[in-house]
Amino acid sequence: MAAVRIDGKAHADELCARLAKEVAELAAKGVVPAIAVILVGEDPASQVYVRNKVRRAAELGIRSLEHRLPVSVSQEALLELVDRLNRDAEVHGILVQLPLPEHVDPQAVIDAIRPEKDVDGFTVQNAGRLAVGQPALVPCTPLGCLMLLKAHLGSLEGLEAVVVGRSNIVGKPMAQLLLRENCTVTIAHSKTRDLPRVCRRGDILVAAVGRPRFIRGDWIKPGATVIDVGINRISEGGGSRLVGDVDEASAARVAGAITPVPGGVGPMTIACLMYNTVAAARAQSGL
Ligand code: GUN
Repeated sequence: MAAVRIDGKAHADELCARLAKEVAELAAKGVVPAIAVILVGEDPASQVYVRNKVRRAAELGIRSLEHRLPVSVSQEALLELVDRLNRDAEVHGILVQLPLPEHVDPQAVIDAIRPEKDVDGFTVQNAGRLAVGQPALVPCTPLGCLMLLKAHLGSLEGLEAVVVGRSNIVGKPMAQLLLRENCTVTIAHSKTRDLPRVCRRGDILVAAVGRPRFIRGDWIKPGATVIDVGINRISEGGGSRLVGDVDEASAARVAGAITPVPGGVGPMTIACLMYNTVAAARAQSGL
């Protein structure tokens, strides 16, 4: 039987509708949630991501302040901007779009963000809080994946979860979140021996490797829930299209449910950024 398609766009729209109401309630009390977005250079993919984030914020009534800086900007100037935004009481969230140019240390810039304003959840402080089970702002992509999994499966307790990929942005926080839900978690990566066998352990399989159509149907446990985090642009038939890290055609014949690309995890990432921004505004205003 073909796998159920988990509609990330529909889940994201539902979450955003709830958030829009919360934003209106906060605004009525004099607090307009605001996010500052820092974009350095001209990377086309980053420009698209930032445009989508700003558009979603506007739909919800969240104020966004874009800071576009040339690729030649110094680390010192970036740190000064972050410092200014940290001290601005009307800014609740600060997001530095990655990647940054090579002459800038991304973790140094990210860790300059006050943890309460770190709506990407990338600071060492928030990563540490998540790891030790303290309240934290959680990275948006894994948070969105978790929301989709819980919406589809209900309780995740006791399930075998395999996360393929160990990045600080997705793989590691995803594993922490699944552990918090009482899954038995395996983190697999490029050096894992017999990756297909390890993947087949997963009742839940999260693919975050950044390689187009890398994970195929015969790597998947029958009936498993597959979350495809990949967004890879490939050339095909004279044009180009977006595909995930999972080979959707073969996976859909084996999995119980799967997120499509596009229209799966991507919309949830942006919705969760809005979720974190509203949470940050609430926390900072005491509402
Ligand atoms: N670049 C790619 N993904 C992300 C993300 O989730 N946040 C930021 N800030 N930059 C990114």
